[in-house]
Amino acid sequence: MNQSTTPAMTEPARRRKQLMRILGDDAIVVLPAAPPRIRSNDTHYGYRQDSDFWYLTGFPEPEAVLVLVPGRAHGQALLFCRDRDPAREAWDGPRAGTEGAVAGFGFDDAYPIADIDEILPGLLEGRTRVHYHFGRDTAFDLKLIGWVNHVRAQVKQGARPPHEFLELGHLLHELRLFKSRDELRLMRRAAEIAAQAHVIAMRTAKPGMFEYEVEAAILHHFRRHDAQLAYESIVGAGANACVLHYVANDALMKDGDLLLIDAGAEYRNYASDITRTFPVNGRYSKEQRAIYQLVLDAQKAALAQALPGRPYDAGHNAAVATLTEGLLKLGLLKGTLEKNLESGDYKRFYMHKTGHWLGLDVHDVGEYRLAGEFRQLEPGMVFTIEPGLYIAPGSKGVPSRWQGIGVRIEDDVLVTKTGHEVITDGVPREVDEIEALLAER
Ligand code: GLY
Ligand code: MN
Ligand code: MN
Repeated sequence: MNQSTTPAMTEPARRRKQLMRILGDDAIVVLPAAPPRIRSNDTHYGYRQDSDFWYLTGFPEPEAVLVLVPGRAHGQALLFCRDRDPAREAWDGPRAGTEGAVAGFGFDDAYPIADIDEILPGLLEGRTRVHYHFGRDTAFDLKLIGWVNHVRAQVKQGARPPHEFLELGHLLHELRLFKSRDELRLMRRAAEIAAQAHVIAMRTAKPGMFEYEVEAAILHHFRRHDAQLAYESIVGAGANACVLHYVANDALMKDGDLLLIDAGAEYRNYASDITRTFPVNGRYSKEQRAIYQLVLDAQKAALAQALPGRPYDAGHNAAVATLTEGLLKLGLLKGTLEKNLESGDYKRFYMHKTGHWLGLDVHDVGEYRLAGEFRQLEPGMVFTIEPGLYIAPGSKGVPSRWQGIGVRIEDDVLVTKTGHEVITDGVPREVDEIEALLAER
């Protein structure tokens, strides 16, 4: 085939090439697809492909193993997968099969997964380094050890077994940290769907309704747009907002409650992650407004640090300083800013970090530090900015009017060449904007 008729290399194929170039010709990568997971007895959770496997293959099926053998003359990118099986496919839907894997996914070659015990030892032979996720799947760990032992057993016949075993994530996750144009298109779509769902939630929630009714409105919007939950939604009214991982979502929403919603869509396996906190009755009380505005100021302070070249932790530090200063002004902390920052007393009310990488996983892969120091932000990185304040009921020394207020504001941010882009801008954040939207109900 000449150059002009060669189909454009798919993005997963490009990533495989890039990874192989970094690893070099004496390496081999072994990466299994995610196993199906049982929910109860013989029913399963909806299948979700392993993020690393998806990144390197775009192949949606279980019972598959990607093997990369850089520099191998007879093919470098190999897939083991299920054979076609009309009887099974009548129950479970179509499979690519080995031919479909080569034709549709750009592998150099594909083999039936049933033949892997026979073939894999031969691929390991002569390779020095095995890159693999040890400890993720114990059953697969044992298989790999078995294949390596198979080669070891033939050393007297001249076989050369691999002798270095390295964590695959180390290099692969550095690639995943920097989002391509195609990935950003999917992430923007995930963000847009989630932002729309939060607007719908604001329009839906009223005093006298249950939290799960709002949860349902969010899920309805996600599924209508071909998206799923990126994680279990948190819909917490009143003091439930102070429970960081609240997922019961079964309480009645009362007049005077704030409602904290942390819900994100997953679109084509890419996550979004948004939190908004708004008054169920349409108006923030004086205390709720003060806390909300403080969290919003902290988010803006963190966002101002989302620039290429700034250290990753600058955003968190700016948020903490803003929150602490505000809590001192409101009388919820005592003493000086310096003392409070030093002692970490603010952690009574702000006990988590200000964000995380975002991508195929909601808490996405990638190092936060390099050689012990927080790394610098670079274009193509996507992360959340999500400060909050949580004044749990019964907080010692806190006047009762503040107790039970929990607020978090979370947005998704892309670092660009010149600054940043908030990709979750479709849902209001300012007090006036939120109250105006709620007044339309
Ligand atoms: N929704 C998970 C998080 O905010 O990190
Ligand atoms: Mn988050
Ligand atoms: Mn979240």
